Amino acid sequence: MAKQVKTIGILTSGGDAPGMNAAIRAVVRTAIHRGLEVKGIMRGYAGLLQEEIVDMNSRSVSDIVHRGGTILYTARCQEFTTEEGQKKGAEICRKHNIDGVVVIGGDGSFRGAGKLSALGINTIGLPGTIDLDIACTDYTIGFDTAVNTAMEAIDRVRDTSTSHERCSIIEVMGRNAGYIALWCGFANGAEDILLPEKYDGDEQSLINRIIENRKIGKKHHIIINAEGIGHSTSMAKRIEAATGIETRATILGHMQRGGAPTCKDRVYASIMGVRAAELLCEGKSNRVVAYKNGEYVDFDIQEALAMTKDIPEDQFRICKLLVR
Ligand code: ADP
Ligand code: F6P
Repeated sequence: MAKQVKTIGILTSGGDAPGMNAAIRAVVRTAIHRGLEVKGIMRGYAGLLQEEIVDMNSRSVSDIVHRGGTILYTARCQEFTTEEGQKKGAEICRKHNIDGVVVIGGDGSFRGAGKLSALGINTIGLPGTIDLDIACTDYTIGFDTAVNTAMEAIDRVRDTSTSHERCSIIEVMGRNAGYIALWCGFANGAEDILLPEKYDGDEQSLINRIIENRKIGKKHHIIINAEGIGHSTSMAKRIEAATGIETRATILGHMQRGGAPTCKDRVYASIMGVRAAELLCEGKSNRVVAYKNGEYVDFDIQEALAMTKDIPEDQFRICKLLVR
């Protein structure tokens, strides 16, 4: 028999991502429309354990659909990874009459959501991360905005790189995943992309390509280096020494996480937020909402966490082929 929820909580956890606010708005308004009470849990699991819990109504989410970051703030919380912390979290939910929780975050946050669910609090995960590194879904809230922000920044670096006839290493975020780097590789026409999933560490081949490209008249050499490989500054020094070509490193950093969400992130996050609230209304728990093969679907959290995905081989090949 499905458990009927009356009051739900919502939290954002892990790195913030543009579009999280659109998802929060959708969850809150859908739940209220369905007659539920809604509470905002501030600062992720850390705020849950500190009982930073506020009542929310339709007006609490006014004027946020277009804003980056998360109005609920976010945090990482070591205590919640312990059994004691999780039990305390479930007790606090019960104390505040919260019988369902929507968790917006990445795989780590879903692990926490799975634990809450096992402790009797109905829990639904929404994929929120700029890294696109959640295996069960082809879309994560924030990736589209982040990759567009990175693309525009790289265009700017390219202008100055061409003018000075330099080599530029631009480091993009993604934790251990290379999706932002791959997409920028396509969109910025980078001469090289270094992805953690693919790079074999052969710097000599990279140096040879830079020298070859200079010989055939290329005025710049843009290398997009994923954060998972890192070391962009020392790499730049070694490349300059080996090629004699001025080489600069630019680490884009947190600018990729901020800013107004793109239309796609607002729309997809809104639809996913509605779906999360509906799943709770249907008495579902331990599910994560995903976008797979063109459809919004949901998966069991543990099944979702056991899935794997990799950089599509064909996309990697095509990306490299186009810069000849
Ligand atoms: P993301 O959700 O983006 O993957 P993290 O891996 O930093 O980000 O996880 C966010 C938070 O989720 C952690 O700070 C912690 O509070 C919680 N979390 C992560 N792993 C677990 C786990 N195994 N069990 C319970 N909670 C976890
Ligand atoms: O997961 C999002 C992300 O921005 C990653 O790309 C990056 O590795 C990490 O978070 C950075 O985290 P912090 O905000 O703690 O520097």
